[in-house]
Amino acid sequence: MTSARTPLIAGNWKLHNTVAESEALAGAIAAHVGNGLACEVVVAPVATSLAAVRETLSGTAVGLAAQNSHWEDSGAFTGELSPVLLLDVGCTHCIIGHSERRQYFGETDAGVRKKVSALLVHKVVPIVCVGESLDEREAGKTLDVVLGQVDAATDGLDAVALAPLVIAYEPIWAIGTGRTAKAEDAQEVHAAIRSRLAELKGESWATTVRILYGGSVKPANADELLSQPDIDGALVGGASLSAENFIPIIDAGVSRAEFSARRRSLEL
Ligand code: 13P
Repeated sequence: MTSARTPLIAGNWKLHNTVAESEALAGAIAAHVGNGLACEVVVAPVATSLAAVRETLSGTAVGLAAQNSHWEDSGAFTGELSPVLLLDVGCTHCIIGHSERRQYFGETDAGVRKKVSALLVHKVVPIVCVGESLDEREAGKTLDVVLGQVDAATDGLDAVALAPLVIAYEPIWAIGTGRTAKAEDAQEVHAAIRSRLAELKGESWATTVRILYGGSVKPANADELLSQPDIDGALVGGASLSAENFIPIIDAGVSRAEFSARRRSLEL
């Protein structure tokens, strides 16, 4: 059966854009998406722009994502944000365990797991990032690393609790380098992640989980990546910083959704 998963295209703006720049970019994306397309779209501005972007996106189908959250609701945690505050500012999604956070800010698998659980409790959709380094890939350890991160992020949580989870496979060597994984290589890892989720939590849930690809996604490679059976969307960095580049990637998500719908109607 062809996938019934709604594709998700997420823009991770990382540490870019003032409030005014964020509003302008969000406005251009919202003008394209309007009340909704066949694929879901979210943007993740810097924390200081979340409130303003929420206003810009109001009444449109573009979701608002944060780039990180602590697991506690509140307390003496200087510099942190919490799921409660993300919900308060209008976030629907939150990126967790991005390789840049793991690499530069000491994010651990155990921390990712606590964040996943806290976000789910507050009904903020976690977008959990996993991915191997170049050394790990060259040593043939890609699946060990990636599946280990998947195991850790979902440990002790059942399929009901995890229902809305999104996973983003982002090979570290492809992030910001212009080097994208070959679509078939990415597909192989995505399929392995789905099989592992099925083993851990059951086939019926695993078939519903969106697994995004990230790492130098751009208009020129989005269609090919999104034509793979287990690549359900994209987590986009650099190319999400201009509407001119991000909109064709959204359109690749729409094409994937329309193609899957046509295939499903033929299978019925
Ligand atoms: P780039 O698209 O700039 O490679 O970044 C990918 C990424 O890290 C998204 O989270």
